[in-house]
Amino acid sequence: MPNAIVLGSQWGDEGKGKVVDRLAHGMNVVVRFQGGANAGHTVVVQDKKYVLHLLPSGILNADTVSVIGNGCVVDPRKLAQEIDYVRGHGFSVSPENLVVSHAAHMVTPFHRHADTLTGGKVGTTGRGIGPTYEDKARRTGLRLESLRDGSWREGFRQLHELWRVICPAPPDSPYPDPEKLIAEMEPLLESLAPFVTDTQEALATQVRANRSVLFEGAQGTLLDIDHGTYPFVTSSSTTIGGALTGTGVYLQFDHRIAVVKAYTTRVGNGPFPTELDDEVGRELRRRGDEFGATTGRPRRCGWLDLPLLRKSFIANGFNRIALTKLDCLSGFDPIRVAVEYDESGRPVYQDLAGWESDIRPATSRGDLPRECQDYIEFIETSLGAKAFLISTGPARHQTIEEPLT
Ligand code: GDP
Ligand code: IMO
Ligand code: MG
Repeated sequence: MPNAIVLGSQWGDEGKGKVVDRLAHGMNVVVRFQGGANAGHTVVVQDKKYVLHLLPSGILNADTVSVIGNGCVVDPRKLAQEIDYVRGHGFSVSPENLVVSHAAHMVTPFHRHADTLTGGKVGTTGRGIGPTYEDKARRTGLRLESLRDGSWREGFRQLHELWRVICPAPPDSPYPDPEKLIAEMEPLLESLAPFVTDTQEALATQVRANRSVLFEGAQGTLLDIDHGTYPFVTSSSTTIGGALTGTGVYLQFDHRIAVVKAYTTRVGNGPFPTELDDEVGRELRRRGDEFGATTGRPRRCGWLDLPLLRKSFIANGFNRIALTKLDCLSGFDPIRVAVEYDESGRPVYQDLAGWESDIRPATSRGDLPRECQDYIEFIETSLGAKAFLISTGPARHQTIEEPLT
């Protein structure tokens, strides 16, 4: 089975969780390589909705090994909560099927607090992601390897000293007391220690054994720290390069899959050229149920933006499309698509004919209304890649899929 990488091509929430869950059936290993619990990936299995933040979506498939790579930032409390959550639904999680990198950085309560104090301008998720990557880049971070020798305790004390100075908190909302935290978190961190390992070795062993590997991106290309709409971005490399640095394993991806939502959304602040601040945008939000899976915030909605998607294709070398949420466009006529920008930077639209009928029951492309097929073909031609997967609803079975060959 070939290797594949699934990445968000827009501003996140494209439906990566569903796509990874679909593909994970044929895969031996699923890998997260960047980000942390800022992600919210929704998977619907037999009418039950699961939202995963840190665990790879492959955890819902028996026989799949899940890897959290060194490029990720891990909040131990969130990880423990999530392990309990999936175990509570009957899925098994043990060091046999989940490994977490010793070189991943730990998100602590100091980072979360600093994020709530400073993240307002960008509109962060408040999960401590930016401050943790700040520590990583400053070389003052705390890695998960500290769980093995207990040095995390001293690490907590040092981080408390550091953050009190570089990001003072108001007197009525101080940083938590480190000694209290150490006592509170001791049992939890001990319970996570067995999952922590050298994931570079673990993954390389799987690759050498010709096991098939699926990489699961978090966020989206336009939130990449280098290639996104800086400074309104996240703090990690969400593009394909991040997959290599975020695992320490060189791998050729046969399938480089762009998850493309049939329209555009963004949560948080920053530019959004095709945003619809009107009734059409509100209707898109209603139809798509566009509320953040992590923070519950309403997502900003707008039409598809091809110039931005083309950049995303350049950054990632995408050769396949997974087109999601097409069902949410039923009833809109015309459907507008930004095809370029004019001299003042405003999007120029092409109008495509819409369709009326509910497409969720479709099982093949031929079942879709002609206008819907035309919309798909327009996107494929514009981006130069084929949609091997068309998602027509949140559930596993609401998918028109051709085998990945
Ligand atoms: P991710 O962060 O990229 O994994 O995406 P999210 O899970 O944050 O957001 C996607 C949302 O759309 C979730 O609620 C999914 O259940 C839902 N979803 C995924 N694909 C489809 C689809 O084709 N149609 C509809 N209506 N919902 C979908
Ligand atoms: P998934 O994986 C959508 C956005 C935040 C904010 C910016 C920085 O579910 O697609 P951060 O907390 O990362 O420092 O916030 O990035 N953001 C996301 N938007 N989907 C996500 O993840 C996101 N993760 C972060 O809203 O604008
Ligand atoms: Mg999401």
